[in-house]
Amino acid sequence: MDKPELLVMGVLPDWDLEPMAERYTLRLLYEAPDEAAFIAEHGAAIRGIVTKGEIGASAELMDRQPRLEIVACYGVGVDAIDRAYCAKRGIPVTNTPDVLTEDVADLAFALLLAAARRIPAADAWVRDGSWVREGSMPLTTRVWGKRMGIVGLGRIGSAVAKRAEGFGMAISYSGRSPKPGVPYAFHPSPAALAPEVDILVCCAMGGPTTQGLIDRAAIEALRPGAIFVNVSRGSVVDEPALLEALRSGRIAMAGLDVFWNEPAIDAEFASFPHVVLAPHAASGTVETRRAMGALMQENLAAHFAGRPLPTEVKP
Ligand code: 8YV
Repeated sequence: MDKPELLVMGVLPDWDLEPMAERYTLRLLYEAPDEAAFIAEHGAAIRGIVTKGEIGASAELMDRQPRLEIVACYGVGVDAIDRAYCAKRGIPVTNTPDVLTEDVADLAFALLLAAARRIPAADAWVRDGSWVREGSMPLTTRVWGKRMGIVGLGRIGSAVAKRAEGFGMAISYSGRSPKPGVPYAFHPSPAALAPEVDILVCCAMGGPTTQGLIDRAAIEALRPGAIFVNVSRGSVVDEPALLEALRSGRIAMAGLDVFWNEPAIDAEFASFPHVVLAPHAASGTVETRRAMGALMQENLAAHFAGRPLPTEVKP
């Protein structure tokens, strides 16, 4: 029997591509010089899309794949996949939850510590000889014991809170509704949460329901000197308002892994010495990426064997 054909939207590690190539015919869209021509050539035979959180799959693309049966996302966030379109065609969407949670929470803390303790500047101070020439570097900002607000206390937000407990922080959060059994203070919106905290961490899932959730009102409600961290999606934040707050210094430090227009982000971000940037890399450890790839492949294998999907995103 012919191997099912899969459209691979973005680069995957060889440790995934090699075993997948044995079971499927892989059509690597990211290597195609002309995407439209590539889809015109292969679209009719494609039975599965393999995509990533930040790439997703549009209705327009899927419309050119009449035999499409499954969209498997290498990532937890499926906001860039047109799920309404998938639901209409009865195409299941799978993702890779849980396996990346702890790494994303780790990076939230890494960015927080790097921004507050000025780790990039400290590293440069040693390397460029400032230590020898000028002595100690300027003082930085304490992290432990501060008040942390978490926007979105889901799997990742809860893992960030667990770490914050270890840092002796007072934790509060905002979300659609209070979580039963959670000991942290609840606020109904980021704007209500912001004035109560020193550090605001965005962990809300992306998509239309959270677009612009951390709005201008929330950003302007932050206390002067606040620290802002985002490891979810750039779309959750009013980015012009964020840039304005960084420019004025109201947000004194920030650690950002995600942006509105990735990877061609607003160049102004790179002009701020008080901001630490990462290239949407929160799940990017070897261990987690292996686990994500394995889970994505399990979903594909289950689908093509007619078994229940291990991690289908409910429509
Ligand atoms: C990316 C992510 O998918 O899980 C998500 O939603 O955004 C990330 O884990 C990852 O960078 C793979 O491209």
